[in-house]
Amino acid sequence: MNERLEAIKGNIIYAETPGELTVMPDSWIVTEGGIIRGIFSELPERYAAAEVTDYGDMIITPSFTDLHLHAPQYPMLGLGMDLELLGWLNKYAFPTEAMFSDAGYARRVYSKLAHALIERGTTRVCIFSSLHREATNILMDELEKAGVTGYAGKVNMDRNGSEELIETTEESVAETRLFIEENKGRKLIKPILTPRFTPSCTNELMEELGKIAAEYPDIPVQSHLSENTDEMKWVKELHPDCAQYWETYDKYGLWKNRTVMAHCVYSDERERAAIKKAGVWAVHCPDSNTCIASGIAPVRTMLKEGVKVAMGSDIAGGAKLSMLDVATEAIRVSKMRWLFGGKRDEERFLTVAEAFYLITGAGQEYFGARPGFGIGDRLHAVVFDDRGMADNPRMNLSERLERIIYLGERQDIKAVYSEGIRRI
Ligand code: GUN
Ligand code: FE
Repeated sequence: MNERLEAIKGNIIYAETPGELTVMPDSWIVTEGGIIRGIFSELPERYAAAEVTDYGDMIITPSFTDLHLHAPQYPMLGLGMDLELLGWLNKYAFPTEAMFSDAGYARRVYSKLAHALIERGTTRVCIFSSLHREATNILMDELEKAGVTGYAGKVNMDRNGSEELIETTEESVAETRLFIEENKGRKLIKPILTPRFTPSCTNELMEELGKIAAEYPDIPVQSHLSENTDEMKWVKELHPDCAQYWETYDKYGLWKNRTVMAHCVYSDERERAAIKKAGVWAVHCPDSNTCIASGIAPVRTMLKEGVKVAMGSDIAGGAKLSMLDVATEAIRVSKMRWLFGGKRDEERFLTVAEAFYLITGAGQEYFGARPGFGIGDRLHAVVFDDRGMADNPRMNLSERLERIIYLGERQDIKAVYSEGIRRI
Protein backbone atom coordinates (compact mmCIF):
# COMPACT_ATOMS: atom_id res chain seq x y z
CA MET A 1 0.00 0.00 0.00
CA ASN A 2 1.21 3.43 -0.83
CA GLU A 3 -1.20 5.65 1.13
CA ARG A 4 -0.76 9.39 1.29
CA LEU A 5 0.94 10.51 4.47
CA GLU A 6 -0.32 13.91 5.64
CA ALA A 7 0.12 16.13 8.67
CA ILE A 8 -1.97 19.11 9.71
CA LYS A 9 -0.69 21.55 12.27
CA GLY A 10 -2.45 24.00 14.58
CA ASN A 11 -3.96 24.37 18.06
CA ILE A 12 -5.85 21.13 18.64
CA ILE A 13 -8.83 20.98 21.00
CA TYR A 14 -11.19 18.06 21.60
CA ALA A 15 -13.43 16.53 24.28
CA GLU A 16 -13.26 12.80 24.96
CA THR A 17 -15.86 13.00 27.73
CA PRO A 18 -18.56 15.56 28.57
CA GLY A 19 -16.97 18.55 30.19
CA GLU A 20 -13.30 17.67 29.80
CA LEU A 21 -11.31 19.56 27.17
CA THR A 22 -7.94 18.41 25.88
CA VAL A 23 -5.95 21.36 24.58
CA MET A 24 -2.77 20.79 22.56
CA PRO A 25 -1.16 24.04 21.43
CA ASP A 26 0.81 24.03 18.23
CA SER A 27 0.48 20.32 17.57
CA TRP A 28 0.24 17.85 14.71
CA ILE A 29 -2.34 15.34 13.53
CA VAL A 30 -0.78 12.76 11.23
CA THR A 31 -2.96 10.77 8.84
CA GLU A 32 -2.19 7.99 6.41
CA GLY A 33 -4.76 7.46 3.69
CA GLY A 34 -7.07 9.69 5.76
CA ILE A 35 -6.72 7.52 8.88
CA ILE A 36 -5.40 9.12 12.06
CA ARG A 37 -1.99 7.76 13.08
CA GLY A 38 -1.45 10.02 16.05
CA ILE A 39 -1.44 13.51 17.60
CA PHE A 40 1.95 14.89 18.49
CA SER A 41 3.40 18.09 19.90
CA GLU A 42 6.45 17.56 17.67
CA LEU A 43 6.29 15.84 14.30
CA PRO A 44 8.02 12.46 14.83
CA GLU A 45 11.00 11.66 12.68
CA ARG A 46 9.25 8.67 11.09
CA TYR A 47 6.64 11.03 9.64
CA ALA A 48 9.15 13.55 8.32
CA ALA A 49 8.09 12.78 4.76
CA ALA A 50 4.44 13.77 5.45
CA GLU A 51 2.79 16.42 3.31
CA VAL A 52 2.27 19.28 5.76
CA THR A 53 -0.62 21.74 5.93
CA ASP A 54 0.30 24.32 8.55
CA TYR A 55 -2.74 26.17 9.92
CA GLY A 56 -0.53 28.36 12.11
CA ASP A 57 -2.41 29.78 15.10
CA MET A 58 -5.80 28.43 13.97
CA ILE A 59 -7.88 26.02 16.07
CA ILE A 60 -8.52 22.43 14.97
CA THR A 61 -11.42 20.48 16.53
CA PRO A 62 -13.36 17.34 15.62
CA SER A 63 -16.11 18.14 13.11
CA PHE A 64 -19.74 18.30 14.16
CA THR A 65 -22.45 15.66 14.28
CA ASP A 66 -26.13 16.47 13.81
CA LEU A 67 -28.13 13.49 14.99
CA HIS A 68 -31.55 14.80 14.07
CA LEU A 69 -32.68 16.95 11.16
CA HIS A 70 -35.30 16.93 8.42
CA ALA A 71 -33.86 17.47 4.93
CA PRO A 72 -37.16 18.33 3.18
CA GLN A 73 -37.83 21.05 5.74
CA TYR A 74 -34.78 23.03 4.63
CA PRO A 75 -36.91 25.30 2.38
CA MET A 76 -39.10 26.29 5.37
CA LEU A 77 -36.37 27.36 7.78
CA GLY A 78 -37.68 30.16 9.94
CA LEU A 79 -41.32 29.66 8.93
CA GLY A 80 -44.30 28.87 11.14
CA MET A 81 -42.44 29.73 14.29
CA ASP A 82 -45.56 31.06 16.01
CA LEU A 83 -47.08 27.58 16.01
CA GLU A 84 -46.65 24.51 18.19
CA LEU A 85 -45.73 21.06 16.93
CA LEU A 86 -49.02 19.61 15.70
CA GLY A 87 -50.30 22.80 14.06
CA TRP A 88 -46.85 23.45 12.59
CA LEU A 89 -46.70 19.95 11.07
CA ASN A 90 -50.06 20.39 9.34
CA LYS A 91 -49.61 23.97 8.19
CA TYR A 92 -45.92 23.97 7.21
CA ALA A 93 -44.05 20.67 7.44
CA PHE A 94 -46.45 18.46 5.50
CA PRO A 95 -47.07 20.90 2.61
CA THR A 96 -43.33 21.54 2.28
CA GLU A 97 -42.41 17.85 2.36
CA ALA A 98 -45.09 17.11 -0.25
CA MET A 99 -43.06 19.11 -2.80
CA PHE A 100 -40.41 16.36 -2.74
CA SER A 101 -42.49 14.15 -4.99
CA ASP A 102 -40.69 16.26 -7.63
CA ALA A 103 -37.22 14.76 -8.14
CA GLY A 104 -35.84 17.89 -9.83
CA TYR A 105 -36.86 20.04 -6.88
CA ALA A 106 -35.35 17.50 -4.50
CA ARG A 107 -32.05 17.59 -6.39
CA ARG A 108 -31.84 21.39 -6.21
CA VAL A 109 -32.70 21.66 -2.53
CA TYR A 110 -30.63 18.68 -1.36
CA SER A 111 -27.53 19.77 -3.22
CA LYS A 112 -27.75 23.13 -1.41
CA LEU A 113 -28.41 21.49 1.94
CA ALA A 114 -25.50 19.07 1.62
CA HIS A 115 -23.11 21.92 0.90
CA ALA A 116 -24.59 24.07 3.66
CA LEU A 117 -23.92 21.25 6.13
CA ILE A 118 -20.32 20.63 5.16
CA GLU A 119 -19.58 24.37 5.04
CA ARG A 120 -20.71 24.62 8.66
CA GLY A 121 -18.49 21.74 9.73
CA THR A 122 -21.19 19.06 10.03
CA THR A 123 -19.79 15.84 8.58
CA ARG A 124 -21.96 13.20 10.28
CA VAL A 125 -25.76 13.14 10.38
CA CYS A 126 -28.85 11.09 11.19
CA ILE A 127 -31.27 12.69 8.78
CA PHE A 128 -34.96 12.31 7.93
CA SER A 129 -36.02 12.53 4.31
CA SER A 130 -39.68 12.63 3.26
CA LEU A 131 -41.78 9.57 2.46
CA HIS A 132 -40.60 9.70 -1.18
CA ARG A 133 -38.09 6.98 -2.04
CA GLU A 134 -36.73 8.67 -5.15
CA ALA A 135 -36.07 11.95 -3.35
CA THR A 136 -34.46 10.02 -0.50
CA ASN A 137 -32.02 8.39 -2.91
CA ILE A 138 -31.25 11.85 -4.30
CA LEU A 139 -30.63 13.14 -0.78
CA MET A 140 -28.17 10.30 -0.18
CA ASP A 141 -26.39 11.00 -3.49
CA GLU A 142 -26.01 14.69 -2.69
CA LEU A 143 -24.81 14.12 0.88
CA GLU A 144 -22.21 11.62 -0.34
CA LYS A 145 -21.05 13.97 -3.09
CA ALA A 146 -20.52 16.77 -0.57
CA GLY A 147 -18.77 14.47 1.92
CA VAL A 148 -21.50 14.22 4.56
CA THR A 149 -21.63 10.77 6.18
CA GLY A 150 -24.06 8.91 8.45
CA TYR A 151 -27.62 7.68 8.09
CA ALA A 152 -30.60 8.87 6.04
CA GLY A 153 -34.12 7.49 6.20
CA LYS A 154 -37.16 7.36 3.98
CA VAL A 155 -39.97 8.46 6.29
CA ASN A 156 -42.87 6.08 7.03
CA MET A 157 -46.29 7.65 7.51
CA ASP A 158 -49.53 5.80 6.71
CA ARG A 159 -51.93 7.84 8.88
CA ASN A 160 -52.56 11.40 10.02
CA GLY A 161 -50.59 12.96 7.18
CA SER A 162 -52.29 15.14 4.59
CA GLU A 163 -54.05 14.31 1.34
CA GLU A 164 -50.83 14.91 -0.58
CA LEU A 165 -48.42 13.48 2.00
CA ILE A 166 -49.55 10.00 2.98
CA GLU A 167 -48.86 6.43 1.87
CA THR A 168 -50.78 3.20 2.31
CA THR A 169 -49.41 0.63 4.71
CA GLU A 170 -48.51 -1.66 1.81
CA GLU A 171 -46.73 1.13 -0.08
CA SER A 172 -44.84 2.17 3.01
CA VAL A 173 -43.55 -1.34 3.67
CA ALA A 174 -42.71 -2.14 0.03
CA GLU A 175 -40.97 1.20 -0.56
CA THR A 176 -38.97 0.83 2.65
CA ARG A 177 -37.77 -2.62 1.65
CA LEU A 178 -36.80 -1.32 -1.77
CA PHE A 179 -35.11 1.71 -0.24
CA ILE A 180 -32.97 -0.54 1.97
CA GLU A 181 -32.03 -2.89 -0.84
CA GLU A 182 -31.12 0.00 -3.16
CA ASN A 183 -28.97 1.77 -0.60
CA LYS A 184 -27.47 -0.77 1.76
CA GLY A 185 -24.24 -0.95 -0.24
CA ARG A 186 -23.45 2.76 0.01
CA LYS A 187 -20.19 3.73 1.67
CA LEU A 188 -20.83 7.09 3.32
CA ILE A 189 -24.57 7.38 3.91
CA LYS A 190 -26.44 4.29 5.08
CA PRO A 191 -30.18 3.63 5.33
CA ILE A 192 -32.01 3.96 8.67
CA LEU A 193 -35.60 2.98 9.50
CA THR A 194 -37.65 6.12 10.04
CA PRO A 195 -41.20 5.80 11.38
CA ARG A 196 -42.04 9.53 11.60
CA PHE A 197 -43.58 9.23 15.08
CA THR A 198 -46.25 7.04 16.63
CA PRO A 199 -49.24 9.14 15.47
CA SER A 200 -48.03 8.80 11.83
CA CYS A 201 -47.83 4.99 11.78
CA THR A 202 -50.60 2.40 12.13
CA ASN A 203 -49.98 -0.60 14.35
CA GLU A 204 -49.78 -2.77 11.23
CA LEU A 205 -47.03 -0.56 9.80
CA MET A 206 -45.13 -0.53 13.09
CA GLU A 207 -45.33 -4.30 13.19
CA GLU A 208 -43.93 -4.60 9.66
CA LEU A 209 -41.14 -2.12 10.44
CA GLY A 210 -40.29 -4.20 13.51
CA LYS A 211 -39.94 -7.23 11.25
CA ILE A 212 -37.65 -5.31 8.89
CA ALA A 213 -35.59 -4.12 11.88
CA ALA A 214 -35.15 -7.75 12.95
CA GLU A 215 -34.21 -8.84 9.43
CA TYR A 216 -31.58 -6.10 9.15
CA PRO A 217 -30.02 -5.91 12.61
CA ASP A 218 -27.34 -3.44 11.47
CA ILE A 219 -29.88 -0.88 10.30
CA PRO A 220 -30.83 1.40 13.18
CA VAL A 221 -34.12 3.17 13.82
CA GLN A 222 -34.81 6.90 14.26
CA SER A 223 -37.97 8.65 15.41
CA HIS A 224 -39.41 11.24 17.81
CA LEU A 225 -40.18 10.84 21.51
CA SER A 226 -41.97 12.91 24.16
CA GLU A 227 -41.49 16.23 22.40
CA ASN A 228 -44.70 18.11 23.10
CA THR A 229 -47.54 17.67 25.61
CA ASP A 230 -50.36 17.57 23.01
CA GLU A 231 -48.42 14.98 21.05
CA MET A 232 -48.01 12.86 24.18
CA LYS A 233 -51.73 13.02 24.98
CA TRP A 234 -52.45 11.87 21.43
CA VAL A 235 -50.04 8.95 21.71
CA LYS A 236 -51.75 7.92 24.95
CA GLU A 237 -55.14 7.90 23.18
CA LEU A 238 -53.73 5.82 20.31
CA HIS A 239 -52.02 3.30 22.60
CA PRO A 240 -54.01 3.16 25.85
CA ASP A 241 -52.23 -0.09 26.69
CA CYS A 242 -48.84 1.66 26.87
CA ALA A 243 -47.99 3.40 30.13
CA GLN A 244 -45.44 5.62 28.38
CA TYR A 245 -44.64 6.86 24.87
CA TRP A 246 -41.45 4.78 24.51
CA GLU A 247 -43.45 1.58 24.94
CA THR A 248 -45.27 2.24 21.66
CA TYR A 249 -41.89 1.69 19.92
CA ASP A 250 -40.79 -1.11 22.21
CA LYS A 251 -44.01 -3.03 21.52
CA TYR A 252 -42.94 -3.45 17.90
CA GLY A 253 -39.23 -4.16 18.30
CA LEU A 254 -38.13 -0.65 17.36
CA TRP A 255 -36.71 0.23 20.79
CA LYS A 256 -33.21 -1.17 20.68
CA ASN A 257 -29.52 -0.49 20.82
CA ARG A 258 -28.60 2.60 18.74
CA THR A 259 -32.21 3.62 18.15
CA VAL A 260 -32.19 7.42 17.89
CA MET A 261 -35.02 9.28 19.64
CA ALA A 262 -35.26 13.01 19.05
CA HIS A 263 -36.24 15.39 21.85
CA CYS A 264 -37.13 13.44 25.04
CA VAL A 265 -38.24 16.79 26.51
CA TYR A 266 -40.79 15.15 28.81
CA SER A 267 -38.99 11.85 29.41
CA ASP A 268 -39.29 11.28 33.16
CA GLU A 269 -37.09 9.11 35.32
CA ARG A 270 -38.82 5.91 34.21
CA GLU A 271 -38.63 6.73 30.51
CA ARG A 272 -34.99 7.81 30.86
CA ALA A 273 -34.19 4.52 32.58
CA ALA A 274 -35.76 2.68 29.62
CA ILE A 275 -33.65 4.76 27.22
CA LYS A 276 -30.49 3.92 29.12
CA LYS A 277 -31.28 0.23 29.52
CA ALA A 278 -31.96 -0.31 25.82
CA GLY A 279 -28.92 1.63 24.58
CA VAL A 280 -31.21 4.11 22.85
CA TRP A 281 -29.75 7.56 22.10
CA ALA A 282 -31.64 10.68 23.17
CA VAL A 283 -31.08 13.59 20.82
CA HIS A 284 -31.39 17.00 22.39
CA CYS A 285 -32.69 19.63 19.94
CA PRO A 286 -32.79 22.84 21.99
CA ASP A 287 -33.37 25.28 19.15
CA SER A 288 -36.40 23.34 17.95
CA ASN A 289 -37.71 22.96 21.48
CA THR A 290 -37.58 26.75 21.82
CA CYS A 291 -38.79 27.70 18.33
CA ILE A 292 -41.94 25.56 18.37
CA ALA A 293 -42.34 26.06 22.10
CA SER A 294 -42.08 22.40 23.08
CA GLY A 295 -40.21 22.76 26.37
CA ILE A 296 -36.73 22.29 27.83
CA ALA A 297 -35.28 18.79 27.92
CA PRO A 298 -33.53 17.64 31.11
CA VAL A 299 -30.26 17.17 29.26
CA ARG A 300 -27.99 17.82 32.25
CA THR A 301 -29.90 15.20 34.23
CA MET A 302 -29.63 12.70 31.37
CA LEU A 303 -25.87 13.16 31.27
CA LYS A 304 -25.66 12.67 35.01
CA GLU A 305 -27.71 9.50 34.78
CA GLY A 306 -25.48 8.09 32.05
CA VAL A 307 -28.08 8.23 29.29
CA LYS A 308 -26.50 8.43 25.82
CA VAL A 309 -27.20 11.96 24.58
CA ALA A 310 -26.18 13.79 21.43
CA MET A 311 -27.43 16.97 19.80
CA GLY A 312 -29.53 17.79 16.75
CA SER A 313 -30.54 20.91 14.85
CA ASP A 314 -33.98 19.43 14.05
CA ILE A 315 -34.34 21.86 11.18
CA ALA A 316 -36.89 23.22 10.45
CA GLY A 317 -38.37 22.88 13.95
CA GLY A 318 -35.04 24.46 14.77
CA ALA A 319 -34.16 27.47 12.64
CA LYS A 320 -30.36 27.09 12.73
CA LEU A 321 -28.32 24.56 10.79
CA SER A 322 -24.98 25.35 12.45
CA MET A 323 -24.21 23.07 15.37
CA LEU A 324 -22.35 25.99 16.99
CA ASP A 325 -25.70 27.78 17.23
CA VAL A 326 -27.36 24.63 18.51
CA ALA A 327 -24.68 24.26 21.20
CA THR A 328 -25.13 27.80 22.49
CA GLU A 329 -28.90 27.39 22.45
CA ALA A 330 -28.49 24.24 24.57
CA ILE A 331 -26.48 26.21 27.11
CA ARG A 332 -29.03 29.05 27.14
CA VAL A 333 -32.09 26.85 27.65
CA SER A 334 -30.26 24.80 30.24
CA LYS A 335 -29.69 27.98 32.22
CA MET A 336 -33.39 28.81 31.95
CA ARG A 337 -34.25 25.35 33.24
CA TRP A 338 -31.82 25.78 36.10
CA LEU A 339 -33.18 29.21 36.96
CA PHE A 340 -36.89 28.53 36.57
CA GLY A 341 -37.26 24.73 36.70
CA GLY A 342 -37.57 24.62 40.48
CA LYS A 343 -34.57 22.33 41.00
CA ARG A 344 -31.81 24.85 41.45
CA ASP A 345 -30.24 22.91 44.30
CA GLU A 346 -29.97 19.64 42.40
CA GLU A 347 -28.47 20.46 39.01
CA ARG A 348 -26.23 23.04 37.48
CA PHE A 349 -26.61 24.12 33.88
CA LEU A 350 -24.77 22.75 30.84
CA THR A 351 -21.23 24.08 30.46
CA VAL A 352 -19.48 25.13 27.24
CA ALA A 353 -17.23 22.06 27.41
CA GLU A 354 -20.27 19.78 27.82
CA ALA A 355 -22.11 21.37 24.91
CA PHE A 356 -18.95 21.06 22.81
CA TYR A 357 -18.80 17.34 23.63
CA LEU A 358 -22.47 16.94 22.67
CA ILE A 359 -21.87 18.33 19.16
CA THR A 360 -18.60 16.41 18.63
CA GLY A 361 -17.63 13.43 20.80
CA ALA A 362 -21.15 12.15 21.49
CA GLY A 363 -21.98 11.75 17.83
CA GLN A 364 -18.54 10.34 17.08
CA GLU A 365 -19.31 7.59 19.57
CA TYR A 366 -22.72 6.97 17.97
CA PHE A 367 -21.00 6.41 14.64
CA GLY A 368 -18.43 4.03 16.13
CA ALA A 369 -15.49 6.43 16.28
CA ARG A 370 -13.61 7.43 19.40
CA PRO A 371 -14.56 10.85 20.80
CA GLY A 372 -11.79 13.31 19.94
CA PHE A 373 -9.16 12.20 17.44
CA GLY A 374 -8.94 8.42 17.81
CA ILE A 375 -5.99 6.56 16.34
CA GLY A 376 -7.31 4.33 13.56
CA ASP A 377 -10.37 6.53 12.90
CA ARG A 378 -10.78 8.54 9.73
CA LEU A 379 -10.09 12.23 10.21
CA HIS A 380 -13.23 14.35 10.72
CA ALA A 381 -12.12 17.86 11.63
CA VAL A 382 -12.87 21.57 11.41
CA VAL A 383 -10.26 24.30 11.30
CA PHE A 384 -11.31 27.68 12.71
CA ASP A 385 -9.65 30.93 11.79
CA ASP A 386 -10.85 33.37 14.45
CA ARG A 387 -8.86 36.34 13.20
CA GLY A 388 -12.08 37.93 11.96
CA MET A 389 -13.06 38.42 15.62
CA ALA A 390 -11.66 41.18 17.83
CA ASP A 391 -8.05 40.65 18.82
CA ASN A 392 -7.77 39.77 22.49
CA PRO A 393 -4.27 38.70 23.55
CA ARG A 394 -5.45 37.76 27.06
CA MET A 395 -7.52 34.79 25.87
CA ASN A 396 -6.22 31.27 26.30
CA LEU A 397 -7.08 28.49 23.82
CA SER A 398 -10.15 27.18 25.63
CA GLU A 399 -11.49 30.73 25.85
CA ARG A 400 -10.90 31.11 22.13
CA LEU A 401 -12.91 27.92 21.59
CA GLU A 402 -15.68 29.30 23.82
CA ARG A 403 -15.84 32.46 21.73
CA ILE A 404 -15.93 30.39 18.54
CA ILE A 405 -18.83 28.34 19.93
CA TYR A 406 -20.77 31.50 20.79
CA LEU A 407 -19.83 33.64 17.79
CA GLY A 408 -18.46 31.35 15.10
CA GLU A 409 -19.97 31.60 11.64
CA ARG A 410 -19.49 30.11 8.24
CA GLN A 411 -16.72 32.57 7.36
CA ASP A 412 -14.65 31.59 10.41
CA ILE A 413 -14.28 28.02 9.10
CA LYS A 414 -11.06 27.66 7.15
CA ALA A 415 -11.14 23.92 6.41
CA VAL A 416 -13.36 20.87 6.91
CA TYR A 417 -12.16 17.25 6.73
CA SER A 418 -14.55 14.35 6.36
CA GLU A 419 -13.45 10.71 6.13
CA GLY A 420 -9.88 11.93 5.85
CA ILE A 421 -10.53 14.14 2.84
CA ARG A 422 -10.45 17.91 2.87
CA ARG A 423 -13.86 19.09 1.61
CA ILE A 424 -13.65 22.84 2.31
N1 GUN B 1 -42.77 14.87 15.08
C1 GUN B 1 -43.23 14.28 13.96
N2 GUN B 1 -42.75 14.87 12.85
C2 GUN B 1 -41.96 15.86 13.28
C3 GUN B 1 -41.19 16.84 12.60
O1 GUN B 1 -41.14 16.90 11.36
N3 GUN B 1 -40.50 17.71 13.38
C4 GUN B 1 -40.52 17.66 14.73
N4 GUN B 1 -39.82 18.54 15.43
N5 GUN B 1 -41.27 16.77 15.40
C5 GUN B 1 -41.97 15.88 14.69
FE1 FE C 1 -37.74 16.24 14.19
